[in-house]
Amino acid sequence: MVFDSEAPVAVLDRIGPATPSDNFSSEPRVQTSAPSLRKAARTAARCTYKYVLRPILPWIFDWTLTRAVRAVRTARAARAQRASAATRRSTFRWRLARLLIASSKHHAFLDRAWITWLFRFTPRGLRRPLARRLLSLSPHYYVYQWTDRYSEECRRGEILRLEHERNAASRREICEKLLSRFLRPNMTVLDFGCGPGFLAREVSAHVAQVIAADVSRGAIACAQQLNPADNLTYVANRQADLSILGDSSVDFLYAFAVFQHLLKGQSVIYFREFARILKPGGTGVCHTVLSDGRPDVPAAACGWDDPQGAAPRKLFGAIADIFIQLFTGRWNPQGWADRRVDVRMVYFSAAEWTALLQQAGFKDVQVIPVSSISDLNDDIGNEHLVTFRK
Ligand SMILES: C[S@@+](CC[C@H](N)C(=O)[O-])C[C@H]1O[C@@H](n2cnc3c(N)ncnc32)[C@H](O)[C@@H]1O
Repeated sequence: MVFDSEAPVAVLDRIGPATPSDNFSSEPRVQTSAPSLRKAARTAARCTYKYVLRPILPWIFDWTLTRAVRAVRTARAARAQRASAATRRSTFRWRLARLLIASSKHHAFLDRAWITWLFRFTPRGLRRPLARRLLSLSPHYYVYQWTDRYSEECRRGEILRLEHERNAASRREICEKLLSRFLRPNMTVLDFGCGPGFLAREVSAHVAQVIAADVSRGAIACAQQLNPADNLTYVANRQADLSILGDSSVDFLYAFAVFQHLLKGQSVIYFREFARILKPGGTGVCHTVLSDGRPDVPAAACGWDDPQGAAPRKLFGAIADIFIQLFTGRWNPQGWADRRVDVRMVYFSAAEWTALLQQAGFKDVQVIPVSSISDLNDDIGNEHLVTFRK
């Protein structure tokens, strides 16, 4: 064994000279500093992480995720149980489709030019089911599709078929019980706001010619598929007047479920136009939901014709609504998107109807409860008719 004679000296040098306290201290001579404590703590933490925490981390992650997913699923199931069958059917995807397809700048009546083209490229056999699907996107047609009228088991296509039959039956009844008394075989008749054309087709069986006009190009395209007739002409009229028709060119005109969706200013223009196009002695019949003290749902509240709604704000509103829906599972009921796809209601009192029609030049204006004429198996049975003569 070889000893290095220098080594003990070097070690002593590094320890340093003995101090007086060294001789008398009862304390051990090991010096503990703050940095070394911190280092020990760090090492202990590192070891705990490496040998205790890290092995069980995947398990903790898995446990948390499973619990979170289970909690979300339970909440959704509870919500679904609470919701009625109708609410459950009214899915986010459907509302988004309504927003993108049925709603345009001024209303949600399905006014899309491309719908006409779509029918041209669709095989004949698929055109009627397609028309039903498209109409179902607007809140104005097939109005009971989201109510509890149809059972939960009822498939979507079946609901639309039944809604189609309900509309056809309801308009047939309106024609027989309310309009037929005014119709003569030699008459030219205007259906103002004809929608999918159920009523226009019924009326066309009793008269020489029907002109069915509507502001919505989509509704007109669907009407042509669903309710055609040889003496029935559908016209998409997006103008604010009836310049598509000549003076004194019509014997009789009617409008069902239309004027409650127009602004008062628009209605006044159309009343004047009715006076122009009706032949002397010609008659008009408008269905109305009377105000009876109900407040109007103003246009701005429905997102239509809103002069203050700047486009970017609307866009952000729509995006915000979509995100709210995605993250909360609920469509924001007061949001821009919801207002845009909803129905605008504007109500007149009986006195307003009378005054406005008289100002337009009509006489014999009468506001009559439908129930006093006939019992109708439809909401319209509880509402009113306004009749007037030129
Ligand atoms: C609830 S639907 C009623 C359809 C049909 N009259 C019926 O009773 O089945 C209202 C219709 O009025 C139409 N309409 C709204 N504003 C109009 C306007 N300014 N000119 C023509 N039609 C209009 C809409 O496009 C829609 O088709």
